[in-house]
Amino acid sequence: MTIAFDERALKIEKLSKTFGGKQPVAVFDDFSLDVRAGEFLSIVGPSGCGKSTLLQVIAGLIPASGGGVLLGGQDVTGEPAHMVYLFQQYAKSLLPWMTAEDNVVFAFNHRLHLDRRKARERAREHLAMVGLEASATAYPWQLSGGMQQRVAIARALSADPKVLLMDEPFSSVDALTRMELHSLISDLWERKGFTTILVTHDVDEAIFLSDRIALLTRRPTTIAEVMESGLERPRRAVETHEDPRFLALRHALLGGLLHGPNEADAAVR
Ligand SMILES: Nc1ncnc2c1ncn2[C@@H]1O[C@H](COP(=O)(O)OP(=O)(O)OP(=O)(O)O)[C@@H](O)[C@H]1O
Ligand SMILES: [Mg+2]
Repeated sequence: MTIAFDERALKIEKLSKTFGGKQPVAVFDDFSLDVRAGEFLSIVGPSGCGKSTLLQVIAGLIPASGGGVLLGGQDVTGEPAHMVYLFQQYAKSLLPWMTAEDNVVFAFNHRLHLDRRKARERAREHLAMVGLEASATAYPWQLSGGMQQRVAIARALSADPKVLLMDEPFSSVDALTRMELHSLISDLWERKGFTTILVTHDVDEAIFLSDRIALLTRRPTTIAEVMESGLERPRRAVETHEDPRFLALRHALLGGLLHGPNEADAAVR
């Protein structure tokens, strides 16, 4: 596998983004980041530094003011077919008048054009992947919040994305459900090999799930530091959180978030 041309590798190159208006907001200026093919990368940083903006530019939902994004060496323009984006309240993006199965079919069939039987099979396969084979004919409002998130995950992955972008996807569920969703997303990521970028405020979540964690500064936003996790997989809900390496990363990241990048360096030393 040649990493440089792997179609799952993302290159954010000299990106600048300014929102216009009476008081223009310069969020990024000359921001670059390489995301490795198939890696799980988390992005953490102070509120308002531009994490959601960055994901939206990567997903082609809003235009960059300068620079750009390359996926597998190709310029990303418009809404790229190979990326899927999960928003914070992504359960709300399910269509209430469609069953779980039809919600999944809806996500891929405008591209794949499978006949009804094949489309249903594919949808059921993906619902089974998230443990919801028994709920295929239920409507979103008949499912718990955690189950709805699972449908949204099944739907996102049914399009066979090369890149999964997630913006605080686990912040609106209870702690136990969140841990279950962590295991689920991490299993699916290992199995399917898509590149993942997760934006989160939860430092523990970032460390538990990621290969690398990028810590961003306040605006004008740059990368303060990219930390390599080094924790082996599979990770374990209880043990991994108590690993001294986990705790050292946590210390460094929290220091960096609370007191700026120099504090992160000091904590690592
Ligand atoms: N559509 C927009 N028009 C004008 N300004 C915007 C727009 N979207 C975002 N901004 C501004 O850009 C900056 C970055 O916003 P963004 O939502 O990307 O931050 P964030 O890091 O995701 O914050 P949070 O952690 O609170 O979610 C903020 O100052 C915000 O007000
Ligand atoms: Mg945000």
